[in-house]
Amino acid sequence: MVCFRLAPVPGFGLLLLCLVLGAVSSYALELNLTDSENATCLYAKWQMNFTIRYETTDKHNKTVTISDLGAAKYNGSSCGDDQNGPKIAVQFGSGFSWIVNFTEEETSSYSIDSISFSYNTNDSTTFPDAKEKGVFTVSDRVAVRVPLNDIFRCNSLLTLGKNDVVQHYWDVHVQAFVQNGTVSTKEFLCDKDKTLTTVVPIIPTTVPSPTPTPSPKEKPEVGSYSVVNSNGTCLLATMGLQLNITHDKVASVININPNTTNFTGSCHPQTALLRLSSSSIKYLDFVFAVKNENRFYLKEVNVSMYLVNGSVFSIANNNLSYWDAPLGSSYMCNKEQTVSVSGAFQINTFDLRVQPFNVMEGKYSTAEECSADSDLNFLIPVAVGVALGFLIIVVFISYMIGRRKSRTGYQSV
Ligand SMILES: *[C@@H]1O[C@H](CO)[C@@H](O)[C@H](O)[C@H]1NC(C)=O
Ligand SMILES: *[C@@H]1O[C@H](CO)[C@@H](O)[C@H](O)[C@H]1NC(C)=O
Ligand SMILES: *[C@@H]1O[C@H](CO)[C@@H](O)[C@H](O)[C@H]1NC(C)=O
Ligand SMILES: *[C@@H]1O[C@H](CO)[C@@H](O)[C@H](O)[C@H]1NC(C)=O
Ligand SMILES: *[C@@H]1O[C@H](CO)[C@@H](O)[C@H](O)[C@H]1NC(C)=O
Ligand SMILES: *[C@@H]1O[C@H](CO)[C@@H](O)[C@H](O)[C@H]1NC(C)=O
Ligand SMILES: *[C@@H]1O[C@H](CO)[C@@H](O)[C@H](O)[C@H]1NC(C)=O
Ligand SMILES: *[C@@H]1O[C@H](CO)[C@@H](O)[C@H](O)[C@H]1NC(C)=O
Ligand SMILES: *[C@@H]1O[C@H](CO)[C@@H](O)[C@H](O)[C@H]1NC(C)=O
Ligand SMILES: *[C@@H]1O[C@H](CO)[C@@H](O)[C@H](O)[C@H]1NC(C)=O
Ligand SMILES: *[C@@H]1O[C@H](CO)[C@@H](O)[C@H](O)[C@H]1NC(C)=O
Ligand SMILES: *[C@@H]1O[C@H](CO)[C@@H](O)[C@H](O)[C@H]1NC(C)=O
Repeated sequence: MVCFRLAPVPGFGLLLLCLVLGAVSSYALELNLTDSENATCLYAKWQMNFTIRYETTDKHNKTVTISDLGAAKYNGSSCGDDQNGPKIAVQFGSGFSWIVNFTEEETSSYSIDSISFSYNTNDSTTFPDAKEKGVFTVSDRVAVRVPLNDIFRCNSLLTLGKNDVVQHYWDVHVQAFVQNGTVSTKEFLCDKDKTLTTVVPIIPTTVPSPTPTPSPKEKPEVGSYSVVNSNGTCLLATMGLQLNITHDKVASVININPNTTNFTGSCHPQTALLRLSSSSIKYLDFVFAVKNENRFYLKEVNVSMYLVNGSVFSIANNNLSYWDAPLGSSYMCNKEQTVSVSGAFQINTFDLRVQPFNVMEGKYSTAEECSADSDLNFLIPVAVGVALGFLIIVVFISYMIGRRKSRTGYQSV
């Protein structure tokens, strides 16, 4: 938007004239394809630019930027038919051609399939001194899946390709397979936009890198977390947490640093929530519930994390059964324990103690220890065995003594 500020005109006050030049200055492309019944079947609006590197006759590499697409033509764009899927074909400048095609998927979704971009180095005003003259084409498979009847939106900058041709896309809105001639109002956001809508900033440099670095094998530091309501502290948790995320078949282990982790939550008679968050964790929720009116347990874990590549990893499971202990006591487990939230997400806990209900005076009540902890549990069968064995011996000896006594008795008769 460009604003021209005019001199104050007496009697009229300050006159402010704004010219909206958005469409002119940034070369947004827009396409509204209709079918034989004049109903919209494909809609797209987006912006793009290209950086092309080519070799010159004197063996240097030159780059040109194509951002002024000028008067683009959409020849070849179609909503498809029985044989061919929908596609958008754009021609601009001196011999540039850009095509994206779509496929309908069986599971009520469609894919933005591939993008192909062609340029002709024969045009000596755009590509002066190009060593090789001719048409070059680069094709990239994008394979973005969008639910049918959703419009794909990506305001963030998307970059495609590398080396010779770098393509930038932004302010993208596209819907193929438009239903009933009405462009959907339901937006399907790209991952980058999803992260943008959240308040928590993404600081990639401080994100514990899930992929490249070898997994931290050391024990996580133990953190103390609590939730306070009007009655005082109502939830206590002390634990070292290690997250194990499997993303793209790579398992990455992340220790939670309590120093940089925020916590909050809520307490209710039947449920309690502990929510952790940090620069890399949007939220990590532990939801506790009461069962049979006399025990509590960890029922649910919800997590949403920012990965280094900017994408968001989210998993939820509300059908868990961990950390089970009587109401009015706390649950304790010093040994490493694993809470398996899903195949792709596990939490390893260390030196764990939690009490989500009935916290008195901000202190833990007596603890019920996990079976892995107490060597007592291992000792009990041994003790019982020893006692039983001892009993058998005692019984046997008494029997022998009794027998001998009675035998002597008979003999005396
Ligand atoms: C697309 O074109 C159709 C028919 O001309 C029109 O009814 C519809 O409003 C247009 N949609 C958009 C988003 O421009
Ligand atoms: C589609 O629109 C064109 C002009 O806008 C009109 O001539 C034609 O009759 C319309 N076709 C149908 C099927 O409505
Ligand atoms: C292409 O567009 C993006 C987004 O507006 C911008 O950051 C980038 O500088 C542009 N590239 C060129 C070469 O103009
Ligand atoms: C030009 O780019 C090519 C790769 O496209 C590279 O192999 C070559 O070394 C570059 N030449 C110069 C002079 O930078
Ligand atoms: C559109 O493209 C086709 C070939 O793809 C060509 O035959 C036709 O002349 C073009 N039409 C216009 C108006 O440029
Ligand atoms: C889309 O275009 C790419 C090449 O640009 C091609 O390989 C692919 O088969 C096309 N897909 C469909 C469904 O037409
Ligand atoms: C390049 O342009 C010249 C004339 O402008 C023409 O003779 C030649 O065939 C073109 N070459 C290619 C590969 O398009
Ligand atoms: C399209 O119209 C049909 C019939 O009017 C209706 O059943 C269907 O729900 C509509 N679909 C969408 C996506 O609006
Ligand atoms: C505070 O404690 C009182 C009495 O135990 C109870 O009735 C009330 O619901 C509690 N308030 C909250 C917010 O837990
Ligand atoms: C992380 O999860 C993967 C896959 O479930 C498993 O093979 C690996 O042992 C786990 N690592 C740790 C440290 O828990
Ligand atoms: C957390 O803070 C404590 C005390 O300030 C410090 O000793 C500890 O090393 C810190 N831990 C991490 C992982 O930064
Ligand atoms: C923790 O909370 C404080 C206050 O709400 C906030 O300023 C800080 O940025 C948060 N830290 C993280 C890592 O989210």
